[in-house]
Amino acid sequence: MKKEGSIAGFSKLSREKKTEWLGTAFKLDDTTVKTIKNHLHSDESLQALYEDLSENTISNFFIPYGIAPNFLINGKWYAVPMAIEESSVVAAASHAAKFWSAHGGFNAEVTETIKTGQVHFRYTGDAGKLQVFFNDSKKELLSSVKPLTASMEKRGGGIEDITLEDKSSSLSEYFQLFVKFRSADAMGANFINTVLEQLASSWKMKVEEALKEGRLDGEMDIDMAILSNYTPENRVKVKLEAPVEAFKYFSEGMSGEEFARKFVRAMNIAATDPYRAVTHNKGIFNGMDAVVIATGNDFRAVEACGHAWAARNGRYGSLSAAEIEDGLLVIELDVAMAVGTVGGLTTGHPMARTSMEILGQPSAKELMMIIAAAGLANNFSAVRSLITSGIQQGHMKMHLGNILRQLGASEEQSRSAKEYFMDRTVSFSEVKEFLRS
Ligand code: MEV
Repeated sequence: MKKEGSIAGFSKLSREKKTEWLGTAFKLDDTTVKTIKNHLHSDESLQALYEDLSENTISNFFIPYGIAPNFLINGKWYAVPMAIEESSVVAAASHAAKFWSAHGGFNAEVTETIKTGQVHFRYTGDAGKLQVFFNDSKKELLSSVKPLTASMEKRGGGIEDITLEDKSSSLSEYFQLFVKFRSADAMGANFINTVLEQLASSWKMKVEEALKEGRLDGEMDIDMAILSNYTPENRVKVKLEAPVEAFKYFSEGMSGEEFARKFVRAMNIAATDPYRAVTHNKGIFNGMDAVVIATGNDFRAVEACGHAWAARNGRYGSLSAAEIEDGLLVIELDVAMAVGTVGGLTTGHPMARTSMEILGQPSAKELMMIIAAAGLANNFSAVRSLITSGIQQGHMKMHLGNILRQLGASEEQSRSAKEYFMDRTVSFSEVKEFLRS
């Protein structure tokens, strides 16, 4: 096979040399190479900081950082930072936040803050004997990780409990130590994984000793020790309610009551049909991810957990629900997630630190409520559009603005284009043609 396009020691090259190699090996034109270079930060020390976050960095990839103001959550005002590339999301969140602030805002609560981790292992002996041995060893096992948990305990965290789980009916010889943690305001991934690895080695030593002494029989070895991103006991609920008449404002000719009925039906469709539920939840994650990213949290972990939570009853469903109760439209989001406000990127990334400052240095619990509120705000706006004008109208308005910017339209041209496309389909070629003519 030809060697062009492959390289040994790429990671050892300087940033400039990496770009140079890429340009040559993949025959990139000057404009492409220039774009890579143009997106470097002009402040060398900031560029170095961003470069160190990952590997083989040759440039930066910008996405917009916006603010959705007027979020009233549990009686407190927030201006919510959102990092997202999709147009309409920040506008939708802002619009919904403003509307709901006139109806008491978002009522949020964090019901639990338990994180989870597992030591997966293989054991071939008697499960009953292993359970007795685990019960006898649990105290010593916990002592073996005391040096690692001591400082987290001072912050109100640490290990909540360890149990032995016999999973051998699902997979032969499969057992787990299932560990519940609290990690205070940290997301806790490093803390949890460090403790789990130590638990795994202490457990292995203990079991091997017991096997030698004949207290246990069979063989044992560790498969792996790792946190679980599924945290069903790390959960936040957000609720909105307003009299149905209030929705006359959105209804485009419908009564507020009719709007509320259509809204509940749309929510019930998402609860019933997985195809719709995925898109419905995507709309929720538009808002949630934008805040998760802006605060330097791990959006892959939040997404993975949220989708697993949505499938907790054995079938993928929606994360939010609505009903009409005593003349009120009540909308609720219930989602499991693990985020932090100290440590990791939340304090290491200058823009994440900025977001924390804008949000008033929230605790992890408070941040969960803000993230969920942004999710529900976007969900409300999306479903509202879907049952009234459809989403394309709003989307296309934003889209038109982007196209006009790309085509370098003057203010005058933009004004007349917006008028012209008010009731016409927007496409790049149509807008180009309009400007040409
Ligand atoms: C688009 O990013 C999100 C929506 O599709 C969500 C939904 O359908 O509820 C509008």
